[in-house]
Amino acid sequence: MPRHVAIIMDGNGRWASRRGLPRRVGHWRGAEAARSIVRAAVDLEIPCLTLFAFSSENWKRPVAEVVDLMGLLRRYLGNDYAAEMARLDVRVRMIGDRSRLPQDLMRIVQRLEEASADHKGLQLTVALSYGGRQEIAASARRLAEQAAAGRLDPTLIDEDLLAKGLELADLPDPDLLIRTGGEMRISNFLLWQVAYAELIFSDRLWPDFSREDLEAALIEFRRRDRRFGALSSTG
Ligand code: FPP
Repeated sequence: MPRHVAIIMDGNGRWASRRGLPRRVGHWRGAEAARSIVRAAVDLEIPCLTLFAFSSENWKRPVAEVVDLMGLLRRYLGNDYAAEMARLDVRVRMIGDRSRLPQDLMRIVQRLEEASADHKGLQLTVALSYGGRQEIAASARRLAEQAAAGRLDPTLIDEDLLAKGLELADLPDPDLLIRTGGEMRISNFLLWQVAYAELIFSDRLWPDFSREDLEAALIEFRRRDRRFGALSSTG
């Protein structure tokens, strides 16, 4: 079983337009799919799940779509979801640039994080206004500030130190990255952390991605021979 599964949930817009529906409907169905995948991850005892809900680049979408997505997140991360996360013992946290989120959504996220901080089950991370390069740059900037202030010897800066400044530093790196929607790209998601992840690309559009699809990805993951640059364990 992977210790950490990360998912790029792509294809909501196409799911809707294929049905002649507005993109907004695709996002709503996508949020329902996210909810059922969280439940499946709990049942399957996956320790950590990270979902890419909104990228730093998604702010460039038309205002109406951004407003719809923010409304969706407000609703899903608000009261209903908080109650369910408590029942399932899920700890929720957010990674990404909080300063760009609407104030009320930021407060909703904060409340959910606080209310679930002691939950010991699934560690669920929602990436919102998130960019992998931005995250790495922020960690490098903090180290540079410490070095400039004379508190850090720059020759000591190594992978471990840079990784400690990343937002998910206390979680294992994702072993499995799934992207739905048929595109084969990382799209600036967890760039540092997926260095050795197995990548699985699914043609399923995100609203159609089901528990069975997640289980199939886990089976595929187990078939892969993970060598981390060394020789195969099976010779
Ligand atoms: C990509 O589809 C999807 C998004 C940009 C939004 C994903 C967000 C959700 C599914 C809501 C998540 C909710 C919670 C509670 C975590 P797209 O619009 O890029 O689809 P397209 O490539 O077909 O246009």
